[in-house]
Amino acid sequence: MRVIVTTANGGVSVMKVEARPDPQPKAGQVLVRVKAAGLNFADILARQGLYPDGPPKPCIMGYEVSGIVESAGEGVEPGIVGKAVIAMTRFGGQAELVAVSRAQVFEKPDSLTFEQGAAIPVNYLTAWALLVTMGGLKKDEAVLIHNAGGGVGLAALDIAKHIGAKTFGTASMGKHDFLRARGLDHPIDYRNQDWLPVLKELTGGRGVELVIDPLGGNSWKKSYAALRATGRMGVFGMSVASASGIKGKLRALKAILSMPRFNPLGLMNRNRAVFGLNLGHMWGEGEKVAGWTQEIMRGVSEGWIRPHVDRAFSFDQIRDAHTHIESRKNIGKVVLVP
Ligand SMILES: NC(=O)c1ccc[n+]([C@@H]2O[C@H](COP(=O)([O-])OP(=O)(O)OC[C@H]3O[C@@H](n4cnc5c(N)ncnc54)[C@H](OP(=O)(O)O)[C@@H]3O)[C@@H](O)[C@H]2O)c1
Repeated sequence: MRVIVTTANGGVSVMKVEARPDPQPKAGQVLVRVKAAGLNFADILARQGLYPDGPPKPCIMGYEVSGIVESAGEGVEPGIVGKAVIAMTRFGGQAELVAVSRAQVFEKPDSLTFEQGAAIPVNYLTAWALLVTMGGLKKDEAVLIHNAGGGVGLAALDIAKHIGAKTFGTASMGKHDFLRARGLDHPIDYRNQDWLPVLKELTGGRGVELVIDPLGGNSWKKSYAALRATGRMGVFGMSVASASGIKGKLRALKAILSMPRFNPLGLMNRNRAVFGLNLGHMWGEGEKVAGWTQEIMRGVSEGWIRPHVDRAFSFDQIRDAHTHIESRKNIGKVVLVP
């Protein structure tokens, strides 16, 4: 099979397409012939050497795929063979074939293309956990979605709109028209101006009940300052560190040094909460994640979960795909097709 290999830490030139022996499904696994694999920001950070959760290099990244079940291992119902599925893969997804636990596979609804199917797991599970499970977002509450034009950002917007929240989102200006059309109430340009006073003005000085922040560093200080009483801040990434080589390491260090430190007494007296999410550390909580997946699939059938694929790149275009995300060109999901 052909696979995408991150051969070392570095720039896009470390990305290669190589051949590997076909995997065989073990007991409890199915073998999926991949039609589309998600490319995530984590894959970019892993290539840059800034993603401690990634496998040792050389490695095949890939947290999610859609495809057709080609065969089933011992103990798996044979009826699943031939079905179109979506799967969460703990790496190895960016390949023509991947063996994955049956428990991490669910049927792809006919209403979704394979490319849209591969855009579901990471973005929507992350957004669900942030907004619903941990963020407890309610109707008429205000939510600030940072990087609203990214994959997680658009997923969060779908969910926040369904809940009936007032939505504020930071994004590059070029993404604002698209975001308005998707239902974002207040897009904020955060690249050419300080977004905090803009948000405060839009909210009559009060701020918001929920912020989700994948930027890290100093941004977490500002996001915390954007909360009104009973406000919650969910932190889930460190995008500000993104860069190859020494530059990335220095940015990560700067982000760590400029992070806020929270005091429980301060949280108590200001009626605020801070929480963190790392979906990649939820593999031991399969039942919980399966429950979230069911809710998301209900959203697909009811039409309020609308995965938006920005662009599909072939495996051979993997370097272009990385550059596309790194240069902030994507609106929504980037997928890879064999
Ligand atoms: N903790 C978790 O479980 C979890 C799960 C999924 C994702 N994440 C994190 O969430 C963040 C977004 O992921 P995603 O998959 O939604 O990414 P994405 O689709 O690639 O979108 C990221 C967006 O972030 C903005 N951005 C900010 N800083 C950037 C930088 N240095 N380089 C490139 N873009 C930058 C860009 O929007 P603008 O053009 O508007 O600036 C970009 O479109 C990442 O930090 C990722 O690691 C965390």
